[in-house]
Amino acid sequence: MTQDELKQQVAQAALDYIKPEIQSDAIIGVGTGSTANYFIDALAQYQGQFKGAVASSEATAERLKQHHIDVFDMNEVESLTVYVDGADEVNKQLELIKGGGGALTREKIVASIAKSFVCIADESKAVEVLGGFALPVEVIPMARAAVARKLVKLGGQPIYREGVVTDNGNDILDVHGLKITEAKQFEAELNAIVGVVTNGLFAQRPADVLLLATSEGVKTLS
Ligand code: 5RP
Repeated sequence: MTQDELKQQVAQAALDYIKPEIQSDAIIGVGTGSTANYFIDALAQYQGQFKGAVASSEATAERLKQHHIDVFDMNEVESLTVYVDGADEVNKQLELIKGGGGALTREKIVASIAKSFVCIADESKAVEVLGGFALPVEVIPMARAAVARKLVKLGGQPIYREGVVTDNGNDILDVHGLKITEAKQFEAELNAIVGVVTNGLFAQRPADVLLLATSEGVKTLS
C-alpha cells in the first residue's frame, strides 16, 4: 500500500472509531494536514447528523465548509468530545511532533479542550525517539533570531521556514538535530523562551488513542 492509501485507510478507521460520538449536539475537533483531510472527506457523509466542527486551521475550516459542515469559533465551545488529527512523529507514549503543516498552535489549542485526542497516522510516523522530524516552533516574527540563538544553545539547529506565515501571523523555525527523550520537560523548556508562541511537541497533552495504519491493517494503541 502507498502512504496515501494508508492515510486514507486510517482516516476511515477514525470515522468508525468516533461513530458513537456522531450525534445531533456533537461538535468535533478537526486537525490539519493530508491525513486529516481524508478524515474530513470521510466525515462529510455524516453532514447534518452532528452539530459541526472546530477547525485547527483556516485550511481545515475551508475544507469543512466546502462539505457544508458548520464551523464554530472555539470561543463559543466549552469542550469537545473528540479531536482527530494527524502527526509527524509519534512514540510509544503517544507523545507527538506536530506542525509539519504549520498549524501547531491552533492544533494544540483545539486538542486542549478535547476529552479525547485520536491521532491518525501511517506507520512511517511511528518512532522510538522523537526528533528525527525537525521540531516546528512558532515564533513572534521580531523574536525569530533571538529564539533561534536560544534553540542552538539547547542543542538544536533551527532553520527558518521561509515564505511561511502561520494563520496567527507568525514565523516558524524547524529545529533539526534533536533527540527528545524527556518530551514533557523539553516542551515546557521551549515554551519558556520569550518569543515562542508554541512548539510542536504534544507531550504534556499527548494523544489518548493512536490509530496506526500498517500494511497489516489499522492498529489501535492507547
Ligand atoms: C499540521 C500537522 C499534521 O498533522 C502533520 O504535519 C501530519 O501531516 P500529514 O497528515 O499531511 O502527514 O501537524 O500542522
